Amino acid sequence: MIFKLTEEQEMLRNMVRDFAEKECGPTAAERDEKETFDRSIFDKMAELGLTGIVFPEEYGGAGADYISYAIAVEELSRVDASVGVTLSAHTSLGSNPIYKFGTEEQKQKYLVPLAEGKKMGAFGLTEPFAGSDAGGTRTTAVLDGDEWVLNGTKIFITNGGEAEIYVVFAMTDKEAKPKHKGISAFIVEKGTPGFTFGKKEHKLGIRSSPTMELVFDNCRIPKENLLGQLGEGFKIAMVTLDYGRIGIAAQALGIAQGAYEAALNYAKERKQFGQPIANFQAIQFMLADMATEIEAARLLVYRAAYLASQGVRISKEAAMAKMYASDVAMKVTTNAVQIFGGYGYTREFPVERMMRDAKITQIYEGTNEIQRVVISANILKE
Ligand code: CAA
Repeated sequence: MIFKLTEEQEMLRNMVRDFAEKECGPTAAERDEKETFDRSIFDKMAELGLTGIVFPEEYGGAGADYISYAIAVEELSRVDASVGVTLSAHTSLGSNPIYKFGTEEQKQKYLVPLAEGKKMGAFGLTEPFAGSDAGGTRTTAVLDGDEWVLNGTKIFITNGGEAEIYVVFAMTDKEAKPKHKGISAFIVEKGTPGFTFGKKEHKLGIRSSPTMELVFDNCRIPKENLLGQLGEGFKIAMVTLDYGRIGIAAQALGIAQGAYEAALNYAKERKQFGQPIANFQAIQFMLADMATEIEAARLLVYRAAYLASQGVRISKEAAMAKMYASDVAMKVTTNAVQIFGGYGYTREFPVERMMRDAKITQIYEGTNEIQRVVISANILKE
């Protein structure tokens, strides 16, 4: 085991850190306050080769490994978790299922512009009655001649409204037993008649990342936009989420790192009782716990990312990384606010935003309770 990043990975970290601090940091608080998404940040990430980081160069990607991808999401989230999830959802939810399950034609038509960042991707799985129970999908797709006709509603869709390409899951066989074998995956383009956007969510955190409802009302898409095999949709969703959870784990890690650094610097500067508060053991112990737990989370995240690049099944490792890193993010950001005291509770410092942003990492791409279901199912099978 070599606990050392490669030179390329270190260079990437420096590049993304610099980008995040210069291009995202100065406007992060304002975008959070106003709930505004800034597409130009995504365009700049495309110029840096981040939008297709893990995909081969022949598909417009940068051909890097999953550790590099995790580092990129981590560094963006260290400064602005909304930007981190934009890249994560675009890459692992919107683009990766097309890379993994698409035909050559689908890859040329959809993956190439996604990887090049000319288009943005999103993933439509969750529904009002199908959240943790992803197999409970009610959206339907019926074949009519050479077209699939989609009807239904998807909710809580990250990059919704902004993305041009959506991987959407729908029931194609209501009689299938077990029911998940009746679900199929489709590629749907923004602008297709019958596909509109509903409610925009107003959220506690990641407020500059758009979260929208997708509405399909007799939306007709070409027959060839079926992704993978008929009835293979649930498996596609599960495999996609295995990779997606590395992105969320990296996002959580970045949020924790950002809050820890802010708290550490503040503790060294803030004076009470005639001395920096970093001199007090109560603060020192909080910093020690933060630093240790962040390192433990980083090892889990990078290990899951390393395995992802080996092409082996990573359900357990990704779930462990996502569950642990998100819990660390919540704890670290809460204690960072504590170290900042009254100031930490105001919008004058970024730690309150980080604490609000951290919460979603325990919820999306599978709640941490679902991660425990995945982990225990895997360890009992081993
Ligand atoms: N890889 C491959 N196949 C898998 C798999 C995986 N990781 N997980 C399950 N499968 C297969 C199983 O082998 C099984 O196949 P067979 O029928 O052929 O045996 C089939 O799928 C069904 O598996 P389960 O019986 O385990 O399925 P289940 O209905 O009990 O559900 C679950 C399992 C883990 C609870 C799953 O529903 C789940 O992950 N739920 C959470 C959904 C989720 O994460 N949603 C997040 C939405 S996206 C989001 O949040 C995006 C965002 O905003 C950024």
